[in-house]
Amino acid sequence: MYTQALDLPEPVSAPANGIAGNNVSASGAQGAAVHPLQAPSAAHAAQHAAQSARFEATLDADGKIEPRDFMPDAYRKTLLRQMSQHAHSEIVGMQPEGNWISRAPSLKRKAILLAKVQDEGGHGLYLYSAAETLGTSRDQMLDALHSGKAKYSSIFNYPTLTWADVGVIGWLVDGAAIMNQVPICRCSYGPYARAMIRICKEESFHQRQGFESLMVQMQGTAAQRAMVQDAVNRWWWPVLAMFGPPDADSPNSAQGKRFGIKRISNDDLRQKFVDATVPQTKVLGVSLPDPALQWNAARQCHDYGAIDWSDFWNVVNGNGPCNHERLATRRKAHADGQWVRDAALAYAAKQEQRSMKEAA
Ligand SMILES: [Fe+2]
Ligand SMILES: [Fe+2]
Repeated sequence: MYTQALDLPEPVSAPANGIAGNNVSASGAQGAAVHPLQAPSAAHAAQHAAQSARFEATLDADGKIEPRDFMPDAYRKTLLRQMSQHAHSEIVGMQPEGNWISRAPSLKRKAILLAKVQDEGGHGLYLYSAAETLGTSRDQMLDALHSGKAKYSSIFNYPTLTWADVGVIGWLVDGAAIMNQVPICRCSYGPYARAMIRICKEESFHQRQGFESLMVQMQGTAAQRAMVQDAVNRWWWPVLAMFGPPDADSPNSAQGKRFGIKRISNDDLRQKFVDATVPQTKVLGVSLPDPALQWNAARQCHDYGAIDWSDFWNVVNGNGPCNHERLATRRKAHADGQWVRDAALAYAAKQEQRSMKEAA
């Protein structure tokens, strides 16, 4: 899972996340790179113009940009920010539900939850690999996460208080993620688009298992139904905020659209999500905590109440209920895994030595 808020600007100025310099990986494929101290010659200027024209033509034709193709710095930077924030969200997103694996109410629920949380870890790995093709290493991206420079989805800074929260996360959080992520399957950057196709299939399972779990709980006791309703009440507004700030306050959106990275605006995605979710609440038998929510016959969609953006920004800026805990757990997991990385590197070095000996 993940969120739209992925495309939030970093708190520090460029190079965010250790972004690679100007077209590092592209220069080899595109011809001689310009030395930073060397004045660009007319030939270089002409080459740059031709590369830019090819890039624009690919976007116009709805084609794919691949890692070795020329891309403008702004494109590389925007993608790296979004993809790394997306990857971070996947792995931090393992925590709120991971807390419930040992407390799942049955073997079946435990097996489902284990599979889901493992999927999220896998999504992080696909996305780090895809982001590395932009010229920034996984270590650099993880350093940015662990030092607090890089963002991840704010939704994971809320606590999972009851078992119903696990179902609501699957239903609403993964549901919102699907709404956001399906358009990314058509994103202009090939590695990101291809990673998203598999991720979206797995997210569909996440959403369905959450809904099914809640259906079972809603057929249980009055206390179980109240627990589900309470979880829905707590998650609804943070989930709506997952789609990111209103279009009017989203300075990155226009460029994201031009680059073929962002296909549908934050507000349009949010509206689609509300319209898709309301009928599901009727099937479940829960209400949404929004007195202003009603069908608008003229607009042919639902009106909904105002989102408290001050709460959203408060959490983005590190002051949510679980920000500190999530980051501390992530840092500890990374430190605890150091021996695995060391062992893998030692094994790779041994293998290399052996193959060099054999070749000699
Ligand atoms: Fe998911
Ligand atoms: Fe995911």
